[in-house]
Amino acid sequence: MIASYPAAWEAFMSYLKKLFNVTENDIKGIIRDFHSEMQKGLSGHESSLKMIPSFVDRPQGTEKGKFIVLDLGGTNFRVLGVALAGKGNSSVFAVSKFVIKKECMEGNAKLLFDFIADCIEKFLTDNKIDEKKLYDLAFTFSFPVEQTDVAAGKLIVWTKGFTAKGVVGEDVIVLLNEALKRKGIKCIRVAALANDTVGTLVAKSYTDKDCDIGVILGTGTNACYPEQIFNISKWRGIRSKGNIIINMEWGNFDKLRRNHYDKDIDDESPNPGSQYLEKMVSGMYLGEITRRVIYDLAHRDILFCGKKTLNIFSGKGSFETKDMSLIQGDTSDNLEEIEEYLAELGIVKTTLPDKKLLKNVCELIATRAARVSAAAIAGVITWMDPELMRRHTVGIDGSLFEKYPGFSGIMEDVFNNLFNAKAKKIRLEMVKDGSGKGAAIIAAVAASSENSPYIMK
Ligand code: GLC
Repeated sequence: MIASYPAAWEAFMSYLKKLFNVTENDIKGIIRDFHSEMQKGLSGHESSLKMIPSFVDRPQGTEKGKFIVLDLGGTNFRVLGVALAGKGNSSVFAVSKFVIKKECMEGNAKLLFDFIADCIEKFLTDNKIDEKKLYDLAFTFSFPVEQTDVAAGKLIVWTKGFTAKGVVGEDVIVLLNEALKRKGIKCIRVAALANDTVGTLVAKSYTDKDCDIGVILGTGTNACYPEQIFNISKWRGIRSKGNIIINMEWGNFDKLRRNHYDKDIDDESPNPGSQYLEKMVSGMYLGEITRRVIYDLAHRDILFCGKKTLNIFSGKGSFETKDMSLIQGDTSDNLEEIEEYLAELGIVKTTLPDKKLLKNVCELIATRAARVSAAAIAGVITWMDPELMRRHTVGIDGSLFEKYPGFSGIMEDVFNNLFNAKAKKIRLEMVKDGSGKGAAIIAAVAASSENSPYIMK
C-alpha cells in the first residue's frame, strides 16, 4: 500500500532518515568528545560540560527519619514526604503535585518562591502533617547550580523554559528561606540542595553498590557520577582525597550533528545557543521536533493528503512527547489507537499508510534520542572504567525512559554494538521517584552529622 505513495514520499522519508540517523561513527565521536569535554570541565577550562561538584558522596544506607522534599524542574512542582527506614529502605508517604503557572516560571524570584511556599503550606495541610514538629527539607532544584555547600548554591543559568528574573546568580536556598519566612512556615529547616541526577544516584546506590551513574531522561536530561577528587583539578587545594558526585549538566553537551529542525527549535527557545543535547533528547523537545516534521509532511501532501490538517499541527506545543508514546505504543494491526487519537483531533478517515508513516516518524525521532542518550552514558562509563572491568548500574528517573515504548531496548542495542559481551555489565534500571528519595537521604546525612564523610565541608 505504501508503494502507492508518490515518489516524493520515499525521497522525503530517506531525507528525514539521513537527518535523524545516528551512525556508529557518530556514537564513537560522541564518546570521544564526552571524554575531552569532561576533562576540560573538571579542570576549569571552557567546556560545554559544567562538571559541578555536588558536595556529596554516595551514603551508606543507614539513614532514618521522615523528610520533606521539594522537586522543582520537571513538568509539575511536587512536594513529597519521604520516610527512610534504614537498611536502604525508603518510601514516599505523601505527595502533592502542582502545576507551575506560566507567570511563576517566567515572572520573578518573588512570584516563584512565594508559589513554592504556598504549595508547601497546602502540602502540610492536605497531608495533616504535625506542624509542631521540625522537619528537615531537601530541595531538589534541577537546574545548573554552582554549589558552595550541601545546602547552598547559586543558579548559573535557567533551562527547560524557566526564565524568572532575579534568580540567576542568587543562592536559591536563601530565596527559599525568605519565602518560608514570609509565609510564616516554621516547621521546616532546609538541610540540603540537590540536583535530581544526584538524588537518583544516591537513591539507587543506597541499595545497589554497582550503581555509579544517575541519569534523568524526562522533561530535561542530565547525569552525574562519582569522581575522584584528585581528578578535579579545578578543586585542587580544597581537598585531595575521596570521591564526590559530579553533576555533569550533560544537557548542554554541544558536539552533536544538528539538523535544521534542531536549529529552529534552538533559535525559538528562551535559551538559544545552549542545551543542544537536551533539545535533541528530552521530553520537553521531542514532541515539538516531531510536530515540525509532521507539519512538513502534511504541507507537502505526503501525510493526511489535504492541508485541512495543517492548522492542527501548526501551533507550537500542539503535539507532545506523550502523544508520540501513544502513537508508538499502538501495536494493533490496523493501528486503531492512532486512529482514535487522530479522530479526537478532528482528522478522520485516515489511511493505514498515513498511520504507519506517523508511527515511523515518531520512531525516527525517538530512536535518535535513545541512541544519543546511550552514547552519552557509554561516554561516562568508559571515562570511569575504560575496559569495562566492573559492573555498572545506571539509575534512571524520568518519564521518557519510564514510558516511551522501546526506549531502553534501543539504548541496550547501542551498548551491545559497542561492547559486545561486556555490554552485560551495564544495567539500565528505572528508579521511580529516585530524585526525591535520594534528596531525602542527602538531607538525612546532612542534618544528622556535622562530620559525615559523605558530605564535603
Ligand atoms: C536540565 C537541568 C539539569 C537537570 C535536568 C533534568 O538539564 O539543567 O540540572 O538535572 O534538566 O531534570
